[in-house]
Amino acid sequence: MSNQTVRALPVGRDPTNDIWQAMFTQRAIRYWQPEKVPRELLELVVEAAAKAPSGSNLQPWMFVVVDDDAQRNAIGAALRRVYEAAEPLKNLIAAGEKSDDKTQRLMLKGARAFFSQLEKAPALIVPCLYHLASPVTDTSTLLAGSSIYLAVQNLLLAARALGLGTVMTTAHNLIAPALRDILNLPGDATPVALIPIGFPDANFGPTVRKDVTEILRWNRWQ
Ligand SMILES: Cc1cc2nc3c(=O)[nH]c(=O)nc-3n(C[C@H](O)[C@H](O)[C@H](O)COP(=O)(O)O)c2cc1C
Repeated sequence: MSNQTVRALPVGRDPTNDIWQAMFTQRAIRYWQPEKVPRELLELVVEAAAKAPSGSNLQPWMFVVVDDDAQRNAIGAALRRVYEAAEPLKNLIAAGEKSDDKTQRLMLKGARAFFSQLEKAPALIVPCLYHLASPVTDTSTLLAGSSIYLAVQNLLLAARALGLGTVMTTAHNLIAPALRDILNLPGDATPVALIPIGFPDANFGPTVRKDVTEILRWNRWQ
């Protein structure tokens, strides 16, 4: 994909072809403008996802992209039902929204928006492990994740490059049976994330993360 081709696309806010800028400003976006995302952009982020490495290059994945209103509404309603019934989660979010820490406050306000009105995202992407065989066959393990999370990260970065906002979530797990039913997933497909995507109604980073001196050890732990 050349820079020129990317520039010719109907990209969103603050697009970038600079990988460093993309990585350093790719933050969780939980608010979107209502307009639809052109399918050529959605297709491109999935294409970028599928450039990721996987065990034995088996590419054990499928990506279900949901841009249909009825389908999005059904998924949003399923998540809302779970959220409304989950008192501990609601209390956690309500308490966090009153936190003195502004970052925490904003994150939990965003999380409430995410859980209660997911259908506001113009599209939802559900990456699935499919026919996993390497490095393991058991889709429930951490090792299984290793063959798809690189693709998920590619997807988030590609979206950032195109000026599209995403938030990586594992909320698929909260609505597993409903999601399987709504998306008509076959038994050998295992959803691994639920990622809303759209033209952002919030700013990209810089992100707030631990300093490298805090997380880096040379040669041995201590
Ligand atoms: C494994 C994982 C699960 C997550 N699940 C949720 C979720 O269920 N709901 C949500 O709103 N955000 C979810 N997030 C988003 C994180 O809260 C977010 O990436 C993190 O707070 C950093 O935010 P920032 O990039 O804006 O700094 C999840 C992120 C990861 C990596």
